[in-house]
Amino acid sequence: MYNEIDIDKIDIKSEPPAEEPARQYYFMAKCREWAKDFEKQNGRAPQSCVVNMGCQMNARDSEKLVGILEASGFTETDTEEEADFVLYNTCTVRDNANQRVYGRLGYLKKMKQKNPNMMIALCGCMMQEETVVAKIRKSYRFVDIIFGTHNIFKLAELISERMDEKKMVVDIWKETDRIVEELPTDRKYPFKSGVNIMFGCNNFCSYCIVPYVRGRERSRNPQDIVEEIRRLVADGVVEVMLLGQNVNSYGKNLEESMTFAQLLKEVEAIDGLRRIRFMTSHPKDLSDDLIEVMKNSGKICHHLHLPLQSGSSRVLKAMNRRYTKEQYLELVEKIRAAVPDISLTTDIIVGFPGETEEDFLETMDVVRKVRFDSAFTFIYSKRTGTPAAAMEEQIPEDVVKERFDRLLSEVQKISAEVCGRDAHTVKEVLVEEKDDHVEGFVTGRLDNNTIVHFKGDSALIGQMVEVYLDESKGFYYMGTMK
Ligand code: 5AD
Ligand code: SF4
Repeated sequence: MYNEIDIDKIDIKSEPPAEEPARQYYFMAKCREWAKDFEKQNGRAPQSCVVNMGCQMNARDSEKLVGILEASGFTETDTEEEADFVLYNTCTVRDNANQRVYGRLGYLKKMKQKNPNMMIALCGCMMQEETVVAKIRKSYRFVDIIFGTHNIFKLAELISERMDEKKMVVDIWKETDRIVEELPTDRKYPFKSGVNIMFGCNNFCSYCIVPYVRGRERSRNPQDIVEEIRRLVADGVVEVMLLGQNVNSYGKNLEESMTFAQLLKEVEAIDGLRRIRFMTSHPKDLSDDLIEVMKNSGKICHHLHLPLQSGSSRVLKAMNRRYTKEQYLELVEKIRAAVPDISLTTDIIVGFPGETEEDFLETMDVVRKVRFDSAFTFIYSKRTGTPAAAMEEQIPEDVVKERFDRLLSEVQKISAEVCGRDAHTVKEVLVEEKDDHVEGFVTGRLDNNTIVHFKGDSALIGQMVEVYLDESKGFYYMGTMK
């Protein structure tokens, strides 16, 4: 276990061990030696800056990367200008994410000209694309390290390699069946944490690049998950977010197969844990058992993120989503019958190839029928290598933009109406941070994920308190602590 390992006692003169995670601790020890030398020369420890550009899974990976960097002797900074080691944890779900990385690399190049010792590393989903790596090798030669989504546990080893070899280190794995446990992590919040329960995705929705960059579905052992959460709780965590691309298919590849609903029951039984969230659910795999577990649970939050993508059965078929508009609506009804105060959020894509005005109106119809608490709306982005990229009838930009604007204004109107439904009631709030805007106020979250601001002291951070919701402001409440 990490806490029991004294990295400074590791003998770095001997050969690195072959087995994991011992091998990585050896390289962390090596990096630490280097960091000590750096400190002697510069009068301060080397600083690292990890920039997370993606989803919650990426954010969790970033916490692991920061954990490794800290164990390797780096201190953290949140500005690239101050950093000796910059790491971008990238996303590639839509093309604009990729463009943003290239833009920021241009900026980093200038910084590196001023500080030639600065090390630049790239990892995450975008690096799993061969064309991206080829472009960086050719046009961004100042990048020092490139690695992917399957080998983030190797960061210390890759840094050591770069220091020894003085040339660009590229290590991308196409696939993996390995899950390396027991490495350090540095949590962003002391009181809540993401917990990976599975990696990868087998669904191959026709627009989506994730199955190509994150690989096939792999579930972690339930014992490891429960043990990790127990440790988190002992360390002050009261809320966990169970993470996976498709949590509803958890357990299928385990030796002793297990369902997500069964896993939730085990997590629920952990003493001291107050709230359980999870993300993301695929509608096609959401079981009656899961609904039953949610209904009977005292800890699972009444919030479900249930990506719709499109309201048109024809488009859903072309997207390979494997449910129809009617099945989605039935599922929503079933969930609401079991958990009446559930908050539903969703993802919607506008402008999928071949989407007609009629198809789009079907999406608007579902939005009006379900009345989501909030919806993330995306313009379809063509991802090379996915089946949808080769489809004819890509929709002209102006048509997509016009539909997108109509959808967004409908979603926002409904969400402002729906989000205020708990006004003038008392609810439990987990206090998360000091209010950004008002001195003497704090900000917290309801179990359905809505934000509440109220008067309070920063000593309340991490606690669950009862708050009267005085007024809804559309997407958040102003309240008073009881
Ligand atoms: N274009 C636009 N949006 C996409 N998403 C995934 N792939 C694409 C794409 N090619 C959206 C989906 C998914 C969310 C994480 O990103 O709505 O649920
Ligand atoms: Fe992409 Fe579909 Fe897998 Fe989600 S379920 S990651 S949208 S392929």
